[in-house]
Amino acid sequence: MNIKNFNNEEHFVEAALNAVREAVNLKKNPKIALSGGSAPKMFFRALADSNIYLHDITFFQVDERYVPKNDSDSNYKLIVDTLFSNPKNQPKELVHFNTNLPIYEALKEYEHKLPSEPFDLVFLGIGPDGHTASLFPNTTALEEVNRDTAYTTTEDFAVFDRLTLTFPIILNAHRIIVLLKNKKTVIDELMGGSMDAMEFPAKRLLEHHNIDILFLE
Ligand code: 6PG
Repeated sequence: MNIKNFNNEEHFVEAALNAVREAVNLKKNPKIALSGGSAPKMFFRALADSNIYLHDITFFQVDERYVPKNDSDSNYKLIVDTLFSNPKNQPKELVHFNTNLPIYEALKEYEHKLPSEPFDLVFLGIGPDGHTASLFPNTTALEEVNRDTAYTTTEDFAVFDRLTLTFPIILNAHRIIVLLKNKKTVIDELMGGSMDAMEFPAKRLLEHHNIDILFLE
C-alpha cells in the first residue's frame, strides 16, 4: 500500500486522474466504481473536463443513500452533476442503484448489473469513524461474504438508510484508490491505531495488493 501526500489540490486531483489514465491504458473499456463524498466530488468534475476519453468507461456506484435520484444527498446526483457535466465528454454509462425500488429489490437489481469480472478500479473515501463505502463500524455488513451488496444504516452521517457494495467485491478489484482530504486522524488510525477492522472498517483495505491512498493535507 502506498500513501501519497499532497499539499496542492491540483496535484491531488491529477494523481486521481492518472489512475484512470492507467486503467484506460490497461483495458479499452474499464469498469470503474465510484464512492460519494467531498474528496471524490473534486475529482469527478476534473475528470469530466480532462483529456481522458470517458465514452469508453463504464462507471458504477460503490454505495448510495436511499433517497430519490434528484435528492441533494444522492450519490447518483453527485456523480451525474459532476462527472456527466461535460456534453463533449460523456461517460459510456453510470450503472446505479435504483432507489425507486424497495431496498432489497434495489440491492438485488443492482447485483444483477454488476460486472462478472473484477472492477478495474475502485475509488473510495474514508469517514472519520473509519467507514468506507457505506460499511460502518460494528455492523454485520462488514462480515458479509456471500453477497456483493448490503443494506446498512447510520445515525452519524447524512441519510440513515444506505445501499453499498460489500468488502468481497471491493477487495476483488484490480486496483483501489482512496481519496482523503484533511483526514490526518484517519491516516494515523489507519496506519498505526489500536482499533481493529470491526471498529475501523477501512483497515480491511490494507489487505489489498494494489491500493494507493491519495492524501490531501
Ligand atoms: C458516502 C460515501 C462515503 C464517503 C466517506 C468520505 O456515500 O458518503 O461513499 O463512504 O466516501 O464518508 O466522505 P468525505 O470524503 O466527504 O469525507
